Amino acid sequence: MAKTNTLKHLAIIMDGNGRWAKRRGRVRTKGHEMGAEVVRDITTYCAKHESIETLTLYAFSTENWKRPKMEVTFLMKLLDNYLKNELDTYMRLDTRFETAGDLEPFSNKLKQTIADTKKATKDNKSLVQVLALNYGSRNEIVRAANRVISEKQELTEESLSNALDTPYSDIDLMIRTSGEQRLSNFLLWQLSYSEMFFTDTLWPDFSPVELEEIISSFQNRDRKFGGI
Ligand code: FPP
Repeated sequence: MAKTNTLKHLAIIMDGNGRWAKRRGRVRTKGHEMGAEVVRDITTYCAKHESIETLTLYAFSTENWKRPKMEVTFLMKLLDNYLKNELDTYMRLDTRFETAGDLEPFSNKLKQTIADTKKATKDNKSLVQVLALNYGSRNEIVRAANRVISEKQELTEESLSNALDTPYSDIDLMIRTSGEQRLSNFLLWQLSYSEMFFTDTLWPDFSPVELEEIISSFQNRDRKFGGI
């Protein structure tokens, strides 16, 4: 019988921007610039998809601060511009913007843009786009556990899940682009029962057409959740 797994929460590790640029003899930041365009295309696809409710994208990890200062500054500016320029798109697509990760180290300007975008989009219903920013899963789990303890709740799977930065449904499908096959401290708790898909395509070359192919393959996988 044909299987039809429902995809509600999709997560993506967007990898390969630097290699994409290098292969074209361009500076790495060009890859990030093209990558931002793909973020818009994939978000548009997901907002229109009948079952996807949440799209979580790994945009900046706690380890990414180790990159050259110029690249980090570029990524911050790119994000700030993206949120400002795409506000119309968020509204048109009825998409709410959220973040996961510790925003404290970001500049006041960027923090303000993030807060403004969250506020402007808070009532949108078709999709939640979560950007993981200064995100590390171990850091998130420790912060969540401390929150549960400080609120004097019992530490259970449920209380910890609810205290995470990502109080959405469990992730159904996780995709990593660029051929790397590791999780890099991304959503370790939330990916417990997720299907994984690794593609060699570099993020700036990723497209809604390829996403659709991956979703078709996901829909036909046998998800057992520990059963038989
Ligand atoms: C990984 O490629 C990508 C990142 C660390 C940043 C992700 C950023 C974007 C996709 C663009 C900006 C996003 C938004 C939301 C505006 P890499 O640089 O590690 O590539 P490499 O492994 O080939 O060097």
